[in-house]
Amino acid sequence: MSTVIETEEQAAARPERRPTGRSVLMCRPEHFTVVYRINPWMNPAEPTDTDVALAQWQALYDTYLELGYDVHLIDPIAGLPDMVYAANGGFVIDGIAYGAKFTHPERQPEGPAYMEWFREQGFDVREPEEVNEGEGDFLLVGDVILAGTGFRSDSQSHQELERIFGREVVTLRLVDPSFYHLDTAVAVLDGTPGREHIAYLPSAFDGASLAVLQERFPDAIIVNETDAAVLGLNSYSDGYNVVIASRATDFERQLREHGYNPIGVDLSELLLGGGGVKCCTLELRR
Ligand code: ARG
Repeated sequence: MSTVIETEEQAAARPERRPTGRSVLMCRPEHFTVVYRINPWMNPAEPTDTDVALAQWQALYDTYLELGYDVHLIDPIAGLPDMVYAANGGFVIDGIAYGAKFTHPERQPEGPAYMEWFREQGFDVREPEEVNEGEGDFLLVGDVILAGTGFRSDSQSHQELERIFGREVVTLRLVDPSFYHLDTAVAVLDGTPGREHIAYLPSAFDGASLAVLQERFPDAIIVNETDAAVLGLNSYSDGYNVVIASRATDFERQLREHGYNPIGVDLSELLLGGGGVKCCTLELRR
């Protein structure tokens, strides 16, 4: 254990972080396995263990309950092993649910399944025309939506987003196939308007997108390649508590230095499908 020495002055200068209540949707990995390869993390030849996936996922679910979050569940469907990555199921703001339209045929049936759930729960569902993978590629920071493209969501979906939500959408182009969804390369630590704070991996973006991030978020936490490689950025923050991959140790230290409370969980089994904490979490903003 290393001790972080901090002067009183440094402690006083550290921004005060406050948690805000959360409502999220998750999907138990009852049918989790890796039988196809749609991202570089997936290798169908490598065995997976559904019981381990279930136990690890349960620890994440329990953590959210302990944090006081309102956690909803969608029933998993046999034959849709990636359904556990609920973040891809849509994008929800102000009670409006923009449905997902998946890139790969293997995941396409998930789109209607999630839309049906949103409908049953009383959300105003907007059927997507453009290919998009929901909150995997769209992140709300303050009043702005950061929108990823390059591997999954089509940039046309960014215009659709803008039309539906009437908010500014900032397009960011991903260039590294290992970081194929925006939520593998950017973490929203504080999305409160006026307090916006993010963390990101610079090498995941093209030059123009990186310049946009640097300009808009000059005080962002820059995460190193080692932590990004365990999907450390694929984390979920309530503005104070940040649930992260327990193996992302430098990121954990950075978060503490910035006044957050990092909470490590081990989702190594779900990493075999190319997803982590955030992938398993879809925020429901009523
Ligand atoms: N196997 C899934 C896929 O490749 C993983 C999705 C991860 N989700 C995320 N929000 N990054 O589509």
